[in-house]
Amino acid sequence: MSTRDLYTTAPSSPSWQVPATGAARFSWEYEDGRERLLALYQKGKDKQWDGATRIDWDLEVDPYDPLGTPDEVLTLHGTRHWAKMTEKDKGDLRRHYSAWQFSQFLHGEQGAMICAARIVESVPDLDAKFYSATQTMDEARHAEIYGRFLHEKIGMLYPINDNLRGLLDDTLRDSRWDMPYLGMQVLIEGLALAAFGMIRDTTDKPLPKQILAYVMQDEARHVAFGRMALRDYYKQLSDAELREREEFVIEGCHLMRDRLRGVEVLENFGIPRKEAEELSEQSEFLHLFRKLLFSRIVPCVKDIGLWGERLQKAYVDMGVFDLGDSNLDLLMTQDEEIAERLDAERFAQEERARVTEVADAIAEGAAGE
Ligand SMILES: [Fe+2]
Ligand SMILES: [Fe+2]
Repeated sequence: MSTRDLYTTAPSSPSWQVPATGAARFSWEYEDGRERLLALYQKGKDKQWDGATRIDWDLEVDPYDPLGTPDEVLTLHGTRHWAKMTEKDKGDLRRHYSAWQFSQFLHGEQGAMICAARIVESVPDLDAKFYSATQTMDEARHAEIYGRFLHEKIGMLYPINDNLRGLLDDTLRDSRWDMPYLGMQVLIEGLALAAFGMIRDTTDKPLPKQILAYVMQDEARHVAFGRMALRDYYKQLSDAELREREEFVIEGCHLMRDRLRGVEVLENFGIPRKEAEELSEQSEFLHLFRKLLFSRIVPCVKDIGLWGERLQKAYVDMGVFDLGDSNLDLLMTQDEEIAERLDAERFAQEERARVTEVADAIAEGAAGE
């Protein structure tokens, strides 16, 4: 079914055009690549996988509870609206929230694909172009998978959130080649990764768990790339240039923290925007979620050398400053291990099923003799 028929509200137009500025750069140096970046490129090639075969699409998903979300987590829980809701309403609410969240993942993945392609075009060095080409393919696979999940399993999509769109717009319009890295790889991907991780680690539903674990295995490489490339580049920038980047990060963080909370869903349930915003603000879960959302961004920003006074102060005010000390390498290694462990468990299960089948067939054969 065409996506057009599944949107809760039709997007204002079927496509979105962001005017591009900046140069396409060729490099005539083909040999002098940085070891670490080329190793990451090799890994990017080795670790490609196909969502059509690696993910078990036959698993059933209840569209009215795709993630197994407990009542307490829903924003309306405990409010005057909750008391009036029937079980069916609650199922609808779960479906809308999941559709909203995975739709933002989907649009974000498309954005990531476009930013990665932009980086191929504009980054000066060939090693970074090579790597980013593998990432472009990774992001295409991710968009494909989230799209399939939404169409086949939830049957409902939300348009892109205005603020996510605004941040993508700023990121893509900027002619400086490092800005798609910073906006996309560090901010949007950092945020997405934290959200993916929360669902991966809390859902008891096998299909979304597989999707998130496998997507995160790739994202671990993407973050490593952003860190490597930006750390090298930011060492060469002046103080004034670094401050500009820090301002961009502060603004982006505020925007995503305060504006990505699914108010659109509540509006679809007839709650006026202002009240929907207030209810979202009061949600205990949102407060927890917000802090966790920064678990990947803050250590990354610190690591690439954007750690000036203003940025530090902004993070203190947001209550996330301490996250700067978390160990990103460890988190990334864990993301890769979780995906590999899931593969091993699934393989062992299939193996057990196969052995039983063979044993049954032998027993049947013996009985027939
Ligand atoms: Fe992705
Ligand atoms: Fe990514």
